[in-house]
Order: sequence, then C-alpha cells, then structure tokens
Amino acid sequence: MEKSNPQGKLLIGHDDCNHSKNESLEDILAQRLNRRDVMRLSAGFLGTAFFGSFMAGCNTEETTTSAVAATALLSFTPVAKNMNDAVTVATGYTSKTLYRVGDPIKLGVTDYLNDGTDTDFDSRSGDCHDGMKYFGLKSDNSGYEIANSTNGLMCINHEYINQNYLHTVAEVAAINNASRVPAQVDKEMSAHGVAIIKITNGGTGFALDKTSGYNRRITAATPINLQGVAAGSSYMITPYSTTGVMTRGTVNNCANGYTPWGTYLTCEENWNGYFKYSTTGRTAKEVVAFSRYGLGTNSRYGWESVYTQWMATVTGTDATADYRNAPNTFGYVVEIDPFNPTSTPVKHTAMGRFAHEGCWPAKVTVGKPVVFYMGDDSKGEYIYKFVSTQNWDAADATGGLTAGAKYLDSGTMYVAKFNVDGSGNWLKLDIAETAIADYTTYDFADAADVAIHSRIAADAMGATKMDRPEWGGVHPTTGEVYMTLTNNSNRAKSGSYGLDAANPRYYTDTYNTTTTNKGNVNGHIIRWKETGGEAAATTFTWDIYLFGAQSAVDAGGDDVNYQANINVSSLTADNDFSSPDGLWFSDVSKGLMWIQTDDGAYTDTTNCMLLAALPGSVNDGATTAITSKLVPTNGTADQTITTYVGAKPGTTKLKRFLVGPKDCEITGITETPDGKTIFVNVQHPGEDGTTTALTSHWPDGGTARPRSSTIVITKNDGGIVGI
Ligand code: FEO
Ligand code: CA
Ligand code: CA
Ligand code: CA
Repeated sequence: MEKSNPQGKLLIGHDDCNHSKNESLEDILAQRLNRRDVMRLSAGFLGTAFFGSFMAGCNTEETTTSAVAATALLSFTPVAKNMNDAVTVATGYTSKTLYRVGDPIKLGVTDYLNDGTDTDFDSRSGDCHDGMKYFGLKSDNSGYEIANSTNGLMCINHEYINQNYLHTVAEVAAINNASRVPAQVDKEMSAHGVAIIKITNGGTGFALDKTSGYNRRITAATPINLQGVAAGSSYMITPYSTTGVMTRGTVNNCANGYTPWGTYLTCEENWNGYFKYSTTGRTAKEVVAFSRYGLGTNSRYGWESVYTQWMATVTGTDATADYRNAPNTFGYVVEIDPFNPTSTPVKHTAMGRFAHEGCWPAKVTVGKPVVFYMGDDSKGEYIYKFVSTQNWDAADATGGLTAGAKYLDSGTMYVAKFNVDGSGNWLKLDIAETAIADYTTYDFADAADVAIHSRIAADAMGATKMDRPEWGGVHPTTGEVYMTLTNNSNRAKSGSYGLDAANPRYYTDTYNTTTTNKGNVNGHIIRWKETGGEAAATTFTWDIYLFGAQSAVDAGGDDVNYQANINVSSLTADNDFSSPDGLWFSDVSKGLMWIQTDDGAYTDTTNCMLLAALPGSVNDGATTAITSKLVPTNGTADQTITTYVGAKPGTTKLKRFLVGPKDCEITGITETPDGKTIFVNVQHPGEDGTTTALTSHWPDGGTARPRSSTIVITKNDGGIVGI
C-alpha cells in the first residue's frame, strides 16, 4: 500500500471506519493483574506444577521449549540505513531483478517501453508487486512438486497502480475521474490482480519462462466464483450474476497466503475505494453496513465512468438491474490454483469480509481442523481466525480447488480480544451469539449477513481495536503466531479509542524537523500462543514481541524517557525500523523470521527495509510500564499502560539485511524450498515523484521511470539465505 502517510499526502484506505463502542482495555485497566505477582502469590498456595499449567505461558520466569536457532545464525553484517536509489543487500549476498512492471509474460508481447504507451497488461507484469509465493514445479512441468528449488510457479499480487508511470505525461495531466478514457481504464484494470509465472533456474539464476502455458494474469475483470455461506444470497445479486454466485475481478490484492493443498490465496484489502457509492435509495441498514466498510461517493480511479460494475448506486428497479450490491462481492480471501491455468478463482465468503491483508495457515495436523489467521488492515480494526469444519486429511495435500471448497467453504470465524492480564479470547462470529443476534446497531438477518459484515459482528462481540494489522506468520517450531501492527495515527486521538495493553504507545515523532507525527508512529509486532498448542483453541496468551522505533531521539522530539517509553525494545542503529508490514517465517531455517517495512515516518532518515530476526517465545521478556504523553493532544493526563514485552533482541537477534530504493515499500517475500534463494518485492519505488519530476529511476537507471519489481537474493557462497 502507499506509504502510511504522516506527511499529509492523499491516503487511500486504512481510514478509521470503526466507531463501535467496544470496551477499551483501558476501561478495564483496574482489573489488571501483574502476572509476576500472581505467580509469586499463587505458587505458594497451589504449587507451581498446577498453577504453571493453568497460567501456561503467563509467567516471565517460565522455562520455554522454544526451538530458536542458535545465535550463530544471522551471521551477516547489518546494512546501514541509507537513502540511496538502489537495493543495498548485506555483504556476501547478491540481488538481481527478476520481474518488473510491464515485463512480457508471454511470447510475442513487445518489450516494455516504460513511457506510458504500453498496452497488453493481460500479458505483462501488473503494477505494485505485493504478496507472493513460490510453488515448486516438477522438472517436466507436469504439476506440483513441493521440494523443487529450480523450477517453480510464482504467484504474485499486483496490489494497485501508479497512474503517473502507467500513462503518458499528457494522459496523466488530463485524467478526470468523472470521465475516464476507456482504453486507460482497461489498462489500469489489467495492471491489477495477480500473476502466475513460471520461473526456472538453469544454473545462472532464475529467469521468467515466457513459453509456459502456466503463465497467466488474473485482473480486475476476471470472472470469479463466489463460494461459501454468503454465495447465492440476496446480498450478492448483480446484473452479472442474478443468482449471486459469481463476480468479476479482484483488486487491491495486498498480502497473501497459501493452503496445505497447493493453492495460492490472495487477499482483497482496500477494495472499498474502487466503488462510487451513494446512500440514495438505500435502506437504513444498508447505510450502516456500507459506512462501516468505508464506501465513499468518490472512487479512487473513476472506473465507474466507463464500467457500471464499479457504480454501487441504486438506479434500477432491483439488484438485478444495477450494481448496488457489487461491493458485497469484494473484500474476500481469493483462492487460485496455479497448476490449473484454466481454473476459475474462488472468493471464499466463509472467511469473512473486511480489508483482508493476508491469510496465513497454522501447521496442519491430521484429524484436526485447518486454521488460518487474518488481519483487517485499517486503523482500529481486528485480528481474525478461521477454523474449518472439516478435519485435515493428508490425502488432500494436492487437492487443489476441490480441497479448497472442502476446507474453506464451511467453518467458524473468530475475532481476537486481547485482555489486560495477557490472556486472550477468540470470540465466535455466529448469528447464534446473543451479542450478534441482539445487536442494536445492525439487525443481522442470517449467517450470510454475518459473513459479509464481519466487522460489524466483531464490533458486537467486543473485539480489540488494533493498530492496523498487516502480515502474520506462524513460527514453524513453536506454532506461536506473530502479526505486525504497522502504525496508527488515530490511537488516543481526541474523540477516538484510547490506549490499551495490546496497543500501548502514543508519542510524538518529528519528520525532517518540520513535521510532527503523533500516535503509534512506528508500530509494533504482537504474538500469541494458543492454549494447549491447539490452533483451534478459543483462548490464548499474548505479548508484544517487538516495538518499532528510532534508536536515537530526534532533535526536538519527545525525549522524555525515550528509551523506556518509545524505544521499548532497545533497538540500535543496526536494527532500528518503523512501520513493520511484511512478516514471514522461513520454512528452511526454522525460527528465522523476516520483517519488511512500509514506512512514511522514518523515511527522512532511511528508505524502507528488510530485517532478519530470531524471535524467542511468548513471555520470554518482562512486564513493562509504558508512559504516553497524551498532553496536550486530548487534554488528559499522561497515561501509563502495563504490557508484556518480549525479550529485547540486542544486536544478535535482529539485524537489517536490506535497504530498498527511494520511496519504495519492501514487501512480498518467499523462498525456494532449499532456502538458498529468497524473492522480495520492491513496491512503488519513486512513489513521491511525478511524471515530470522523478524521484527514482530504479531499477533501470538513467532517466527511466521507476518500476515495481521482484528481486532475487542469493548468498554468494551458495548457502542458505540469512544464516
Ligand atoms: Fe496493502 Fe496493508 O498494505
Ligand atoms: Ca502496507
Ligand atoms: Ca523521526
Ligand atoms: Ca501490506
């Protein structure tokens, strides 16, 4: 996504649509237990064995069984922060560009001119590369081979577009959203979506194979099936599908996921901005629903001026006569079978509808449900999980979309509540829950209504408002779940929700000595351990693994107890960062976690980056009091929040591995099954430039327009990346 925008640029998405009255954890702070105190008191009465199991993971003195790799890992020298228009990777590693916006993915497509005149984006790389996943392909190209590290299919999200670089200078200057040029809209819709490309390493590094029949684009115009509880419901009826079982297109495909049965998951994030909406002719209930999802009267690109499918207004006699319901067909987890190039993608409605960042599986166990973790990336939104009705059968490991229907079309949705005592609850989103059935703000009609309006059901259940959930990941050995909370400029703002134990920081940061940003400016990473190690558990224990921060205080910044209250994780110049977004665990180097940034707060000092981390486990750190200087923002006194902070990483367990080019976001990371190659996406380099005043020429150099690209990183000695 475009940078998080502390400097006043137009920000699309991430706006706070959550005005529910959920109890803030701050409101029940008086209930707080100091877990160390509880342990100390209780041990004397109950014995540590009993109480230790009862409070599993809650005490900082607990002996953990974490399988964290030895500190010999992360043997590379950290990369210094910089603002170069280049990819800077750790010494001993090489970075090469593999796949740039506009690159042909089929034979017979002309090379990209990159001057705004190119067309044929159905046969080229889309724009703004984001989440991605490598799937091994048999050497004879006949199907899925999970362990193949030299031949693979890469699924890549193309989240949105940079109009400045997609069209000519004159065309950009003439863009009028009220009356778009059809050919330009076609180009923009085709530059969205997902790409599946075959890549092969014949010994000299990976290259795209333009001859492969697997190569295809899924765009904002591709037919997609609707499946699960809301498919075929009245909410989904459109002129395109009068039975409500199909829609066209997927947009704003941000992060991703994958399934244990060999398919790709792409997630629809800020889809609301693509529709032009009006309250005219709507029921009061519809107005509540569309408002909660941030629909607005002006669309992002004006596509509705050419195609009515983006015009979410009531103009006809019923839903078969206009696209009033079209927004209900967006906001889902979308499943794609990369190995079946003629298959139709599927939107899984049972996994809820919100600004889906990504969808990350827990490890599967035969005979137990399949579990996925998901975040809703907007300010003050929630963390969810889906638990399948069907139990995992290893025979489905290559089951493709048939297995997808089996596991993802029926299940239970939960939303997370983070309690002040370090425990957590997964609250069921079900029409049978009294809080949902009796919710006065919105009169839920049925299970389809709950699935389509996850946010409202989560409001009713009293979920915890988070600081913009971005990527998540499951530690491959401990099973603990990590999720980035990238930043939040609304937290503790006047009239907004307050601080709580899981979102405990508010402070002032300066940018270029001229601007100040307030809130949780640099973000943090939360993690949790499911009770009993069961992914489907309904309770958990949590702490905050890591806080983003500058290692050094700004001149003129908030320097009162800076290290204690802002740089809580004691970051150093070798690993300080802001706005964690991407987060991903290597499956090869067990315990190696990568953190990627999408920042607009520390970019006066450094471009966005990739860091490598060796996290421990929940509650390996200390109960910590953080004081926020709320005065004079909302007129209340300074506030101290007690929270649970993971062991500080020091200089050995968190290191900066890469810094990207100017104005970019670092995102989308995946590896070959041998861990010797990682792929990283560089999104929107030169985003702050214009057609006539470029701020970046990466990756082509000279006077070229900047291009979002996938890069390939290998270790020069042929070893496993990162260790
Ligand atoms: Fe598309 Fe949440 O970043
Ligand atoms: Ca982002
Ligand atoms: Ca600063
Ligand atoms: Ca993101």
